[in-house]
Amino acid sequence: MVQRALSDPAAARRLTPRAACCRALLLALTALLPVTALHAADPRPLATPDPATIPWPGGVPASDAEILLGKTLFFDPRLSRNRTQSCASCHNPALGLGDGVALGTGAEGNRLGRNTPPLYNLAWNTAFFWDGRAPSLEAQALNPIESNAEMNIPLPMLVERLSGIEGYRPLFRDAFGDDTVDAARIGRALAAFERTLVSRNSPFDRFLAGDTNAMSEAAQRGLKLFRGAAWCSVCHDGPNLTDSAFHNIGVRGNDPGRQAIAPGHRMQGAFKTPGLRNVALTAPYMHDGSVATLEDVMKFYNRGGDDHRRRDPLVRELDLSKRDIADLVEFMKALTDPLPIEPPVLPD
Ligand code: HEC
Ligand code: HEC
Repeated sequence: MVQRALSDPAAARRLTPRAACCRALLLALTALLPVTALHAADPRPLATPDPATIPWPGGVPASDAEILLGKTLFFDPRLSRNRTQSCASCHNPALGLGDGVALGTGAEGNRLGRNTPPLYNLAWNTAFFWDGRAPSLEAQALNPIESNAEMNIPLPMLVERLSGIEGYRPLFRDAFGDDTVDAARIGRALAAFERTLVSRNSPFDRFLAGDTNAMSEAAQRGLKLFRGAAWCSVCHDGPNLTDSAFHNIGVRGNDPGRQAIAPGHRMQGAFKTPGLRNVALTAPYMHDGSVATLEDVMKFYNRGGDDHRRRDPLVRELDLSKRDIADLVEFMKALTDPLPIEPPVLPD
């Protein structure tokens, strides 16, 4: 309960030296507790995501036909004006659904402004993009298609193009009852496919299910630190290790982040807490790709971030040893369960 109160930034700001001392004591105590007891102290327990709880639009899971259409669209480079770039070009299944570089490249060869985020376990999210500007996966999906920095095709042109591809007709018909192609259906199908990208069989999940050998001892120590002294799970909580909120953790740079959506200084430089499933596959890190490795991420947190002007009070200097840092990295590696995604046959 104490920890829940501390996860509220306002409450954390009110911490007196005495409260800070209590916190240290509490952390020392929690470090001694077994994993099951620790769950109760978490803001929201780290857990294995349950696909049955995915909030599908209208409360009904998408049909297999809709998901297949979405997957086909996701891999189809004809969704870009010059037919060179699909969603999967940047969200590459071989690179943890990211692109493996700090800042990716749009269809016309231009450099993007932010790091390409991986797309695992987004089904439960309520805000999309690093600054949360899209309210749903459906709304998000049309964005890169139209954006002249990315796929650069006006939606009417895309609708006309796909309508002219014979092989898409049965896919649209099976998914939606008739073969009309429109932007809303394209967005719906892409979102339906993305909601199936649920990673939930990592060593950590097997460990949670009772297989104590599934995670190395180092990873187990890392888990304790993650929920205890390293103070990670105040933001990276729940089954997908994100609070779906926005924080400035002290990454240097001029990107206003959430402030562009929620004006005022409070959200300056704040970005959405990324989920950490498969994070070992998606270097480099942060909204600008400025941090090269997970070890570097840990060093960043250990020094309390780099830019302290608007830093969230939940980020502060930690006093982690070299071994602690290695253990936390091992824990994050234990969140790895890449999904096998068989590329679809593209229709003619
Ligand atoms: C040129 C590379 C590129 C292409 C092509 C691309 N994306 Fe992205 N995607 C990005 C980048 C970069 C961001 C982050 C942008 C931001 O936050 O401002 C992003 C963000 C997202 C997000 C938000 C993730 C989150 O955690 O909030 C989703 C979902 C997504 N893309 C899906 C798609 C889909 C679907 C397509 C195809 C229609 C697509 N992307 C095409 C680079 C790309
Ligand atoms: C105050 C909330 C908060 C705390 C505490 C916190 N994080 Fe983060 N974390 C974030 C946010 C927000 C980002 C993205 C920041 C950005 O890009 O500017 C992030 C980014 C990351 C990333 C990069 C992920 C990616 O896909 O780029 C990793 C890894 C990470 N955090 C792990 C940790 C670990 C380990 C701890 C504990 C030492 C921790 N975080 C503590 C909020 C937090």
